Amino acid sequence: MTTHPPGLAIETQGLVKVFGANRAVDGIDLRVPAGTVYGVLGPNGAGKTTTVKMLATLLRPDDGDAYVFGKSVRREPDAVRSRVSLTGQYASVDEDLTGTENLVLLGRLLGHPKRVARARAAELLDVFGLTPAADRQVKTYSGGMRRRIDIAASILNTPDLLFLDEPTTGLDPRSRNQVWDIVRAVVAQGTTVLLTTQYLEEADRLASRIAVIDHGRVIAEGTPGELKSSVGAGAIQVRLHDADRRPEAAGVLRRVLGSDVRLESDPVALTAAIPGHGTDLGAAEDAARALAELARAGIVVADFSLGQPSLDEVFLALTEASGDVGGAPVGGAGIADEAAADDDPRIGDLVKENRA
Ligand SMILES: Nc1ncnc2c1ncn2[C@@H]1O[C@H](COP(=O)(O)OP(=O)(O)OP(=O)(O)O)[C@@H](O)[C@H]1O
Ligand SMILES: [Mg+2]
Repeated sequence: MTTHPPGLAIETQGLVKVFGANRAVDGIDLRVPAGTVYGVLGPNGAGKTTTVKMLATLLRPDDGDAYVFGKSVRREPDAVRSRVSLTGQYASVDEDLTGTENLVLLGRLLGHPKRVARARAAELLDVFGLTPAADRQVKTYSGGMRRRIDIAASILNTPDLLFLDEPTTGLDPRSRNQVWDIVRAVVAQGTTVLLTTQYLEEADRLASRIAVIDHGRVIAEGTPGELKSSVGAGAIQVRLHDADRRPEAAGVLRRVLGSDVRLESDPVALTAAIPGHGTDLGAAEDAARALAELARAGIVVADFSLGQPSLDEVFLALTEASGDVGGAPVGGAGIADEAAADDDPRIGDLVKENRA
């Protein structure tokens, strides 16, 4: 008889799902602390959705088991279902219904009286910025609106565990920030969130721990800092005052950092990799030395920034390290733009109010 440590929202043991000859999930072990955001990071086809579906009892594992708050997804799926909510890459709302109709219907299915369901729907639509679209069919919504109505539907009753399957893929920076704010508000109210994403930066912003999966296996696990420092410290981007000095600046950076220097399409910009030290401090010191050397050479730096490795870099480094050269490249577009989505305190209140 296996025991399950208290404080774990999810524990999986050798979880396997096979589709024909394809081992989509090939022995995954995860331990997700309760009350946190846990990131599952991986490229297309890695097995993220399949894993989430097994945890949410929508798919039966072919081997191994998973425990959600200590309940087995194989043996006690009803107990698991009562604690979780799921949103993601599959329909949870009806495209032909309006935003209001969807939320009222789901509220009624959850057992709320009509009046309560209506009030809750209106409140959620308001907080998620969907009031103007409340009476339109969901099939007319943009990607960002669609994602928000999906999440609204999944927190009609605040679950103990919320699965968010790539909640921001394809969203613009503002919508992405709104979704991040919602995730933070949900977690602040005590819900555990399992978030799948293709973006390291998203996992970095939200998750306290991350599992990187590829070909149905966990290839790395740790805090965001641990994962990044395992593949090097990132890069320094420099913009010069004078484009004519760029070749010289490239020479200085190459000499000081001993790494590759990339000339950007912007004629004053260049980027140099900072070799890993295992600490962020080492990277900052290297960057400071490089800037000092540029100053000594009389090259004026207009601005600079210290960037972290992209998911591309982390993923490629990890798959190289595990000897797997067959991994597909990852679409790890950075999320550079920090469009300010105003924190809406009502989101937190809303979640709190509906905690059972
Ligand atoms: N119902 C299914 N029948 C057959 N094969 C499937 C099925 N669902 C998933 N697969 C396969 O299992 C593998 C993992 O798919 P999964 O959807 O879990 O990946 P993912 O990590 O969620 O990818 P993405 O980032 O594209 O959503 C893929 O090779 C996929 O083609
Ligand atoms: Mg998926």
